[in-house]
Amino acid sequence: MHLFSLDGKVAVVTGGANGIGAATVRLLEEAGAKVAVFELEETQGFSVDVTGEPAVRDAFARVAKEAGGVDILVNNAGRAARKPATELTVEEWNEVLDVNLTAMFVCSKHAHPYMKKRGGGSIVNLASIMGFSGGLFPNASYQASKGGVVNLTRALALEWAADDIRVNAVAPTYVRTELTAPIFSRPDRLKTVMEHTPLGRLPELEEIAAAILYLCSPAARCITGITLPIDSGYLAR
Ligand SMILES: NC(=O)c1ccc[n+]([C@@H]2O[C@H](COP(=O)([O-])OP(=O)(O)OC[C@H]3O[C@@H](n4cnc5c(N)ncnc54)[C@H](O)[C@@H]3O)[C@@H](O)[C@H]2O)c1
Repeated sequence: MHLFSLDGKVAVVTGGANGIGAATVRLLEEAGAKVAVFELEETQGFSVDVTGEPAVRDAFARVAKEAGGVDILVNNAGRAARKPATELTVEEWNEVLDVNLTAMFVCSKHAHPYMKKRGGGSIVNLASIMGFSGGLFPNASYQASKGGVVNLTRALALEWAADDIRVNAVAPTYVRTELTAPIFSRPDRLKTVMEHTPLGRLPELEEIAAAILYLCSPAARCITGITLPIDSGYLAR
């Protein structure tokens, strides 16, 4: 068995046009998978807002029809509303929870029948170090959503273990993308981040993608229900 090969596998990556998602698409393709991207802006022929259940259902049906099935799902689409909780509107709260948590449930639910049909599969969710900590800057809806991701991962792992569908998550620390531009563009905030980074370096996009590939691959076939930190030591304190 080739431990890290995804030859013949079909993967869906949500939010795969940018940042961590795009790096993951590249690495899964290098490992041999055929990859479909569900993105807001049309990418590879798909334009799917993952917060809309009918659109998600139809997109999985299309992937299964065109590629022959679905083996892997990377629930990566995400957003943030960084502001003090006292200033956060319920609408902003809901927008974050809809993408970061509810869409993850919806995509997983609609991937499940196709994975079951193939005799198994692998789902990897994007949690965050914020799923295990209150964070460094006010971002309550994001931290709450990522805490939810950690436990949704455990719950689905247990429900679907009998179908040989593994459900895991990764928990990155700060990585330079559009999402974190408000942190990386502010030297004072970046200094605070580095004070909480024991290794003294933050991960590159490919280092998050590598952990995702590992969890998708046959090398991790006995791993389910975990959230793997890629955190340069953040959570060790
Ligand atoms: N960058 C970090 O430091 C960091 C750290 C921990 C976790 N994460 C998580 O990693 C994931 C990717 O983050 P990133 O930093 O690469 O962000 P990013 O903003 O670079 O990319 C997110 C992508 O998701 C897409 N997206 C947003 N809403 C969508 C929707 N409703 N339907 C379809 N696509 C949608 C966006 O168009 C974008 O391409 C997120 O879940 C994020 O919370 C990021």
